[in-house]
Amino acid sequence: MPETVFVLDFGAQYAQLIARRIREQGVYCEIVPYDTPWSALAARKPAALVLSGGPESTLVEGAPEMDDEILNSGVPMLGICYGMQLLARDVGAELVKLDHAEYGPATLVVGDRETPLFDGVPDESRAWMSHGDSVVSLPDGYRALASTARCHVAAMGNPQKKIYAVQFHPEVVHTEHGRTVLANFLAEVAGLSRDWKMDSFVDRSIGEIRARVGGDRVICALSGGVDSAVAATLVARAIGEQLTCVFVDHGLLRKNEAEEVLGAFRELLHLNVVAIDARERFLRKLSGVDDPERKRIIIGHEFIDVFEREAAKIPGVKYLVQGTLYPDVIESKTPASKAGKKIKSHHNVGGLPEQMGLELIEPLRSLFKDEVRELGRALGLPANIVGRQPFPGPGLAVRIIGDVTEERLEVLRAADAIVREEIDAAGLDPHPWQYFAVLTPVKSVGVMGDGRTYANLVAIRAITSEDGMTADWARLPHALLGRISARIVNEVRGVNRIAYDITTKPPATVEWE
Ligand code: XMP
Repeated sequence: MPETVFVLDFGAQYAQLIARRIREQGVYCEIVPYDTPWSALAARKPAALVLSGGPESTLVEGAPEMDDEILNSGVPMLGICYGMQLLARDVGAELVKLDHAEYGPATLVVGDRETPLFDGVPDESRAWMSHGDSVVSLPDGYRALASTARCHVAAMGNPQKKIYAVQFHPEVVHTEHGRTVLANFLAEVAGLSRDWKMDSFVDRSIGEIRARVGGDRVICALSGGVDSAVAATLVARAIGEQLTCVFVDHGLLRKNEAEEVLGAFRELLHLNVVAIDARERFLRKLSGVDDPERKRIIIGHEFIDVFEREAAKIPGVKYLVQGTLYPDVIESKTPASKAGKKIKSHHNVGGLPEQMGLELIEPLRSLFKDEVRELGRALGLPANIVGRQPFPGPGLAVRIIGDVTEERLEVLRAADAIVREEIDAAGLDPHPWQYFAVLTPVKSVGVMGDGRTYANLVAIRAITSEDGMTADWARLPHALLGRISARIVNEVRGVNRIAYDITTKPPATVEWE
């Protein structure tokens, strides 16, 4: 078993981010509820504990607490925000409610260099604060290690007991030296060897999946995207032929994509894949539909229908694998705001398990997208799958404004392939997050050779983004835009004009539809 750090989750917004930062430091980490009894933790031999932040105040009756035995367990501990306040309260420090809560950036001043927590952190740096209570005095054995203008004790430590705490959030990128502080805690305070790699995650997950599934059958819908590919590969490593993957070709993929991903799944990853050619069926259902939301709904229904029919052919299937990532988990925790302000109904296979009475296997639930990519690489997935751009479930149907026909799909596929080829070849740094072509129904007059043309406008979209939630348009070099434009109008029949989309999200969305 790897050296494991447990994050006690007191309801933090950032518990997963803490876990991910710890894994980045080469230490295996899991999140457990704040009230996990010490006996349960002790059985797993924690190498260190991190107490997360949380929305409550320790000054209020009924604030979430940890098992008393944890404090005296002798395990190295790091409290963050609420976690610091709880530790402080439990060791007998004095806390007050601030007149004005401290939110956002603050200058952190390191005041103590005797302990290793701030090794390598400059005397002054930016830290991210988010608290309404503050520690004002400390009991014997504890020293104040850092402060901000508003927070007298922004970090504290007891070197004998290896108990440390910080009021700021070391896990967020806005805290300049947050990673160093976490690394110091893990290596210098807790003495961990920091040699954990994704390979260990693979071994662990395989063991868990095997134990859960036993001899049952499992099914997985492959979209060609990185998440479902990684999830399926991991499950296949665990249970081999008991997993059946279904790849529904709805005809809305990009140029050569269906062949490429299917080839990779079968030949490289040795997945057991049933491929269903549903291209005609999807096109028929989409015929004459130009409302984008209707397109999404039709595609979603058709997909479920085709998939269900295929699943019914597998006797005794009990589980469905889904490539749900941690950001999907957070988003689904706030259903009210999403449902209230739905902009687009995102099509994934979300509705499948309830309808089919299947239990879910979600091996990527604790991971972020870039961790999934790393996991994919550890599993030997080819670069064209691991590095694939996010691609909407309804595919090119939402990148064609208006009616979706085979002819229009052909035009878009050809234009889109040029956009991707040119941008890939340009070796941009930073590489845009997503880049594609959109076929608009706008027609305008042009001249080609000596003749008049009356053809379509194609829009190019290239964005930079962290997560697709917000985006900026990529500042592509003009020469590159020029090459893309010239190639599309010359090589793709039916297109005589190119526009580059220079809107951010918000107010625009990433996809046009
Ligand atoms: P929008 O257009 O909503 O897109 O700004 C944000 C990100 O989500 C992708 N997208 C989808 N992803 N199923 C998906 O899995 C969908 O139905 C879907 N629609 C949009 C989009 O490509 C962008 O990365």
